[in-house]
Amino acid sequence: MRAGRHEWAVALPLPLLALLSGCGGIQTIGGREGRDAALINDLFTLFCIVTGIFFAAIMAFLFAAYWRRRGWRADRMAEEDERLAAPSRGGALRVGMFLWTGAVVGGLMGLAVASFFTDRGLAHPNSDNKPVVSIELTGNQWWWDAKYHFHDPSKDFRTANELHIPLGAATYIVLKANDVIHSFWVPNLAGKQDLIPGHLNDIVLVPTRAGHYRGQCAEYCGLQHAHMALDIVVDTPADYQRWVARQQQTAPPPADPQARAGYVYFMNKQCSACHTIAGTPAGGQVAPDLTHVASRATIAAGTLPNTVGSMHAWVADPQGVKPGNNMPYIGLNADELHAVVAYLETLK
Ligand code: CUA
Repeated sequence: MRAGRHEWAVALPLPLLALLSGCGGIQTIGGREGRDAALINDLFTLFCIVTGIFFAAIMAFLFAAYWRRRGWRADRMAEEDERLAAPSRGGALRVGMFLWTGAVVGGLMGLAVASFFTDRGLAHPNSDNKPVVSIELTGNQWWWDAKYHFHDPSKDFRTANELHIPLGAATYIVLKANDVIHSFWVPNLAGKQDLIPGHLNDIVLVPTRAGHYRGQCAEYCGLQHAHMALDIVVDTPADYQRWVARQQQTAPPPADPQARAGYVYFMNKQCSACHTIAGTPAGGQVAPDLTHVASRATIAAGTLPNTVGSMHAWVADPQGVKPGNNMPYIGLNADELHAVVAYLETLK
């Protein structure tokens, strides 16, 4: 069946709409919620406009040449060529070529200068934004280990897979990797920066709009590379201070009997060998810090929403949820599973 004209009119813009619908939301390259992202997007827009104008001009010349040639007769081609090559037309052609060459050189120079200034802007973010937050972020297969540093080291704390940063201030992040190369990428806020084993990298984030954004490891790092996401919450300065104050608190002892049973299991079985819960004997450093795990938006580095159901699924069978990750199958019975989850849910 042939599609009618109206069907085509509807169908043709669909791929375009699909593309545009990707430009919005918590993880998008069209985002302008950070200073760097805005700089990069301005440069990208300029490139699109300038190259779009040249593309349109070249297409216009191509079609003009095609339509002109159509009316000509093959037996008079030699005559036409001679007419075009006449000295009287040479002047106009030469001027046209000069103008075109000038436009190409000018356009390329303009893009080079714009690229230079964007690059300078990205390289010197501290001239008017002294960093007020300092974070050490380490990439692991496949999760993010974050340490917040303060002038008074007794206020330092550790968290995982979710960063909070204050609106309108600069956050300085040192990037490290424990195993393989990862890449820190929160497109709404800034460009990418690699995390390389044995090498220190850094990035400065200057968010300009409060909100919840999603970061994603942008360097293939093994089986669960796609499940190495990062939640980034840009808080107002007051909300940020409240979040920091809560993160600096240690975990309270559980009051509820079921949570208490979960606490005992956690401390006496494998869990505490890998995970830290501040204020308890659990001090393992090779897995995410769980001191405030229940306050986070997701678990397993963005793999599941942080609900009681997800937590059961994750603790019961981490290899079923995220095959290949380093959390082993523990083999808890139903009572132990409910108890451990009940305890984890107290870690707000
Ligand atoms: Cu870490 Cu990809």
